Amino acid sequence: MPEPNNILITCDNLVKIYKIAGLEVVALQGLDLTVERGALLGIVGPSGSGKTTLLNILGGLDRPSAGRVTVNGQDLIKLSAAALDRYRCNQVGFVWQQVARNLIPYLSVQENVELPMTVAGIRWGEKRGRAQELLAAVGLSGRRQHRLAELSGGEQQRAAIAVALANRPALLLADEPTGEVDSTTAQTILETFRRLNETLGLTIIIVTHDPRIVGQVDRVVAIRDGKISTETIRQVSQLERAMVGERLVEEGAAEAVTYHEYVVLDSAGRLQVPREYLEQFNIGDRTILEVTDEGILLRPVADRRVAATPLLPGLEEEPPAPRRRGLRGLWPRVRRRRSYDDRPG
Ligand SMILES: Nc1ncnc2c1ncn2[C@@H]1O[C@H](COP(=O)(O)OP(=O)(O)OP(=O)(O)O)[C@@H](O)[C@H]1O
Ligand SMILES: [Mg+2]
Repeated sequence: MPEPNNILITCDNLVKIYKIAGLEVVALQGLDLTVERGALLGIVGPSGSGKTTLLNILGGLDRPSAGRVTVNGQDLIKLSAAALDRYRCNQVGFVWQQVARNLIPYLSVQENVELPMTVAGIRWGEKRGRAQELLAAVGLSGRRQHRLAELSGGEQQRAAIAVALANRPALLLADEPTGEVDSTTAQTILETFRRLNETLGLTIIIVTHDPRIVGQVDRVVAIRDGKISTETIRQVSQLERAMVGERLVEEGAAEAVTYHEYVVLDSAGRLQVPREYLEQFNIGDRTILEVTDEGILLRPVADRRVAATPLLPGLEEEPPAPRRRGLRGLWPRVRRRRSYDDRPG
């Protein structure tokens, strides 16, 4: 089924397994993600959680082991190697953490921005004009003739953003673009992304460890163990909208913006419960789901031994009676599966 027109990226049950010396590393374990056109999305998560793996797949640098990934109406898994190369060159821009990977040191900033256009066969005049526009957009008009070593860390990354935009990509991917700069410079770089997102309507995904990303983007997804676990969404309250109407945005806007963190359910209804909650409530590898008047409650199993050790058929204890309305049918199903698993082989 084709994606709705406002959706740029759809990842459906994405799996990536790396095999090295007979060992398998599952870097993505059924990741689901939808990104709208024009979104400015932050991705956070602990080291090794799969952030770079996801960016590499979205950018056509790597292919998933299973699942589906669609960008701009193209199913990346079905693209031939040549089509994937074209996709990577024409439709995606990359900004990497290591500046050396973004810029060629012996070319000037302007020449760096022109290079992808030269490869794409764009005429000299058009190339020069576009490079100057892009350098103005990232605030580097005064640094056009500088080389890599003559730029500050923040200027190098802003030059890298201009290079990444040279071929008018639909999607800009940035992997830890603020990882090698101080916090003030990081702020300038994040503001540059935000301005480009607003002025060009470009879809931008930024992977970062920087917690301040939350204040710069509309949506932050957190990856844990190769799956999206939580999402934080920026919400502009009624107060700000009312004040826009009355032209009083500046006075009320700061208080009116709020952030909400949500736990994400995947397409099969699975969710990741934050580890600290599980520890706080002593929930092991099983839990009791209860429907209450306010929603669904996860309750620890009263006797941890019940959760920890599989019981022999016929020796099952009744689960503790749910205090409020239970999820009808859940326990019989769990019991059935357990006695099946425990049948002597
Ligand atoms: N080319 C590869 N070959 C084998 N294993 C890999 C490869 N790339 C990544 N991995 C493994 O996949 C998992 C996810 O790695 P990934 O680089 O996506 O994490 P990350 O979230 O970007 O981490 P970081 O914040 O440290 O950059 C890790 O366990 C990593 O060791
Ligand atoms: Mg990484």
